[in-house]
Amino acid sequence: MSTSDFIPGTSRYSTFLRYAHWVTVVLVFLAYISINARKFLERGSAERLLAVESHYLIGIVVLLITVPRILVRLRQEAPPILPALGPASRLASKTAHLALFMFLIVQPVLGVASRLVSGRGIGMPLTEWSIPSFAVAQPELAKSLIHLHEFIGDAFYYVIGMHILAALWHLLVRRDNVLQRMV
Ligand code: HEM
Ligand code: HEM
Repeated sequence: MSTSDFIPGTSRYSTFLRYAHWVTVVLVFLAYISINARKFLERGSAERLLAVESHYLIGIVVLLITVPRILVRLRQEAPPILPALGPASRLASKTAHLALFMFLIVQPVLGVASRLVSGRGIGMPLTEWSIPSFAVAQPELAKSLIHLHEFIGDAFYYVIGMHILAALWHLLVRRDNVLQRMV
């Protein structure tokens, strides 16, 4: 860990955890934008295919970042919050972060699984290449997985929104070092 990770009185998350957080934020926003953009693009068009396949690739990258991030996080405690939170806020933030971490794993896994059992594979943007599907297609299972993926995707608009509001509350109302620890 470099010395810049320690501002007097305010230690920060390690460089890797900070980068992983902000790169993930950008990718999650892009995952939402790309899949919503498809609704405005003509069915069967190259633009729509690009939006949908970008969604797949972005989501897979989120998963690939989140797995090592969780492994690193399990070995590194969060830096202290000053002034310390009360037990109710601590519980609320722990629960929210656990839910966010689960989302970052479960959501891409459901997306990947739905494509693999659909028999259609996972096409990669701007290439002819695709991750091949399982030999035996199970369209009903694929449909259930994608419904769950869409439900969780919708629910997390609210969870992510609350998370951002909580960060703003810490910055502007409580005026503690919560956000500083992540930048
Ligand atoms: C951070 C990761 C991801 C997020 C936040 C996310 C979010 C979403 C959301 C919100 C929708 C529903 C959009 C709507 O209601 O119209 C959706 C649809 C979908 N996602 Fe994801 N997704 C992620 C990763 C993935 C991955 C990795 C795959 C597959 C490789 C995938 C495959 C799909 C598919 C097939 C659909 C349905 C598209 C359609 O109906 O044409 N997603 N996703
Ligand atoms: C503008 C948007 C965002 C801001 C300002 C923000 C800010 C923060 C801050 C300040 C923390 C540290 C909280 C603490 O230690 O008590 C944090 C943690 C976290 N954030 Fe965000 N966040 C944003 C978006 C997101 C998004 C989109 C996701 C994922 C969907 C996310 C996932 C997480 C997770 C999992 C943690 C826990 C980190 C850990 O314990 O290692 N954040 N965020």
